[in-house]
Formats: sequence, C-alpha cells, structure tokens
Amino acid sequence: MKEQLEQIREAALAALAAAKTEEQLEQARVSFLGRKGELTLVVRQMRDVPPEERPAMGAVLNQIKDELETRIAQALRSVRAAERSRRAAEERVDITLPGRRRRRGTLHPLTQVFNELVDVFGSLGFSVVEGPDVEDDYHNFEALNIPRDHPARDMQDTLFVGDGLVLRTHTSPVQIRVMESQQPPLRVVVPGAAYRHDYDVTHSPMFHQIEGFLVDRRVTFADLKGVLTLALQRLFGSDTRVRFRPAFFPFTEPSAEVDIACFQCGGDDSACRLCKGTGWMEILGSGLIDPNVFRFVGYDPEAVSGFAFGMGIERVAMLKYEINDIRLLYGSDLRFLRQF
Ligand code: DAH
Repeated sequence: MKEQLEQIREAALAALAAAKTEEQLEQARVSFLGRKGELTLVVRQMRDVPPEERPAMGAVLNQIKDELETRIAQALRSVRAAERSRRAAEERVDITLPGRRRRRGTLHPLTQVFNELVDVFGSLGFSVVEGPDVEDDYHNFEALNIPRDHPARDMQDTLFVGDGLVLRTHTSPVQIRVMESQQPPLRVVVPGAAYRHDYDVTHSPMFHQIEGFLVDRRVTFADLKGVLTLALQRLFGSDTRVRFRPAFFPFTEPSAEVDIACFQCGGDDSACRLCKGTGWMEILGSGLIDPNVFRFVGYDPEAVSGFAFGMGIERVAMLKYEINDIRLLYGSDLRFLRQF
C-alpha cells in the first residue's frame, strides 16, 4: 500500500506540473482528491490494513494529501498570475500613439444665413411661421394685389403645377395666410423655398427667401427703416450704411429696395466685382403693406398699417461669403462646404 501511495503521489505531482490552466488544475484535483479520486479510493482500502499499521499508513496518507493541496494552491496562484500578465500585455493601450482626428460637420451656408436672420428678427420679437411650397393662385398673386393679366406676373417666371396651383414664386403668400387666420398686432418672419423658371450663375429654379412683416396701429415708414437698418447692421456689422431706394411692388405702397454699402470696397473701388463699382449692394425689397392687401384679408386699412420685406437667402450668402456661382450652394461638394 505504501508503494501504491507513492505512485499516486508521483502521478499527481506530474499531472499538476503538466496543468497549464485553471481548468486542467481542477481536473487534476478531482481525479486525485475528489470523491472518486485515486487517493480517496485508497482510504477505503484502509480497513484491509492490519490495525497496527493503520496509524503509520494514515499519517503517510495525510501527508500526501496536504502536500497535494498545497501544491494545487500554489499552481493555481501562478496560473492566475500568468493569465493576468498575458491579458495585460494583450490589452495594452499605447497612449503615445497619435489620435485619429474626426472631422466635425458644419451647417450649410444657407442654413447659417437663415439661422442668423431668424436670431436677429427673433430678438426683435418676430416669430417664425412657415407655409406651403405648392400654393394657389389666390395666395401667390391675387390677394397680394397682383390680378390676372397684371404685368407684374411676368416678372415672376412662374412654374405652374396645374389646377390653379403654382410653386410659390416668393414667400409673400404666407403674409396672406397669417393675416387670414390671426389678428394684429403681428410680427412674423417666414423662411422658406421659392421657385421660378430662371437659371444662371446667380439664379436657380429653387431658391430661398425670408419674408417678414409687422402689422399694428400707426406703423410708419420710419418703423420700417428703423427695424431693417438695425437688422442689417446686426447681420453685416454695426457700421454698415443702409440706403432706401424708391421701387415698386404690387403688395406695398410706398415700396423701397434696400441697399447696403459695399463691405468689400466701401464704395472706393470703381472696378469692385462685388458692387460692380456702384458702392452699394441690393439686399432686399420692402414697403408699407398696400391697403388692398389688408382688404383681401378682411383688415380695415383705416385702422391698421404695417410693413413687409423679402430677402433672397442665396444672394446674401453669395455676397457674404463671396461665392460666384449659385450652383456651389447645391452641389454638396465637401471641399466647398468645409470652408464654412
Ligand atoms: N416678394 C418679393 C420678391 O420675391 C420680395 C418682396 C418685396 C417681399 C417687397 C416683400 C416686400 O414683402 O414688401 O421679389
């Protein structure tokens, strides 16, 4: 029996030395010290040992058992330590490697101009309203004091959808929609797309405008000048000079086109490409709302008055960022868009 124990001991030590993982160690432990392990089975044979030899045999048995348990615990510790350092090496992060830069996207220049305008007018108490791109003849023309056969319809290069519907040629029809459904006082801006049969380096069949209007009691041309001058100076710089020129629009009377002094040459360069040597750049159309428009929406022109204006977004963006071809604004070319 003593030899048998010695053999088991050696086999067990060999198995432990060969075990490389926690699992293999556990297997070795079970096969020697487990309930049906080799050493356990030997204990059962104890009853066949003559009683006088039992104490000595038992001592040997316990000694082997203790030894194996100690060895298993040691092996477990070193297997775990090896596993830890293997993982640490494998998952090591080299914090000295240069990072990979992620490019941040930017808002489209037209969106930026829209946002600035909405901010400026928002701070003056204007709220934002939107209207439909497909509009009926009544709102796009009739109620804006542009009757059928009026020559002003020729200026609009209208795209017809059929059935009395058009793609709106300007954002002005939203004035009518708001006034039809709300009572003054009103302060509203309308950002949106407009459509005309027109195409060259500064015109696109789809383009954008912001419309604005204010209706209250005793609104005068001075209010129009004050609000628009302030807004343009917020937009283009506080020392921007602003000029109001007589003009004609069917839905305003009197009407004015508004220019700002050229921010490129300040009017000093007769060869300036931005203002074409005039020193001024046309920025928007405006005027006091025509009494006829008030009659169409059921307001009393004796009781209320107001002003309105309309501004081309592409035009402002092209002047502001010196863009010479309108198609750049629609091309989605990242080399262009990343500059904003
Ligand atoms: N609707 C005009 C256009 O598209 C722009 C305009 C001019 C709007 C004068 C206005 C205004 O509200 O008062 O050409």
